[in-house]
Amino acid sequence: MRLLIHNNYENASRWTADYIAGRINAFAPEQARPFVLGLPTGSSPLGVYRQLIAACKAGKVSFSHVTTFNMDEYLGLPPDHPQSYRRFMDDNFFSAIDIKTGNTHIPNGMTTNPEEECGAYEQAIKSAGGIELFMGGIGSNGHIAFNEPGSSLTSRTRAMTLTTETRIANSRFFDGDPQKVPSRALTVGIGTVMDAREVLIIVSGRQKARALQAAVEGGVSHWCPLSCLQTHPNAIIVCDDEAAEELKYGTVKYFKDIENLN
Ligand code: GLP
Repeated sequence: MRLLIHNNYENASRWTADYIAGRINAFAPEQARPFVLGLPTGSSPLGVYRQLIAACKAGKVSFSHVTTFNMDEYLGLPPDHPQSYRRFMDDNFFSAIDIKTGNTHIPNGMTTNPEEECGAYEQAIKSAGGIELFMGGIGSNGHIAFNEPGSSLTSRTRAMTLTTETRIANSRFFDGDPQKVPSRALTVGIGTVMDAREVLIIVSGRQKARALQAAVEGGVSHWCPLSCLQTHPNAIIVCDDEAAEELKYGTVKYFKDIENLN
């Protein structure tokens, strides 16, 4: 597992966007052989989305042969709800790049049959050839997508009940009222993320520092879903100095040394 510690969020976002654009360009996707990209919502990826939009507008990368699968969606929110993840992705990324809407996938939060919807989502990922690169963020408790602590490390796409901690954290988008945050969501599983050929997680800010410390310096545990990356053959965590604050001095020095970041 690589850990890239950048001195601020802007630099972490720029590095990540350059990396993703480079991976897409090196893959040279075509209609019959699209690049399959997994994507998150949240504040953490916003800087990356801004940089990728700029790169697309500057002709440095194209998404015309990119297929995307998002990590999760609230259960019970229609796609045009201002806080649905479909709306978030359209507003913050898809509408500003040259991607075909039909190539963007997000679980349907309005399904009346979550089990069937989740099975179909897994099948769609498989039919697309699997995910080449899964970008993600984490919650302050170390969750990936909506896989809360205690989730099986081999879990697949399914409906999950959100913790109070997560509903409080996400209430900032729901008039500050945790009761307005849906209590359930559809989410890819940790096993689904781990199946991606590469996983890249962005971690920013002091509120994520304890989760990052547990994931990097602790053992693999379902209590910190992010720690699953320790067993992935091709995983990268990109963070900023604030998120690295709980890591040991020696750990920070080690990763900065091998990554040539100082
Ligand atoms: C939600 C999403 C996660 C995301 C997390 C952190 O819970 N389901 O996928 O990583 O929020 O969001 P933020 O980046 O805004 O801190």
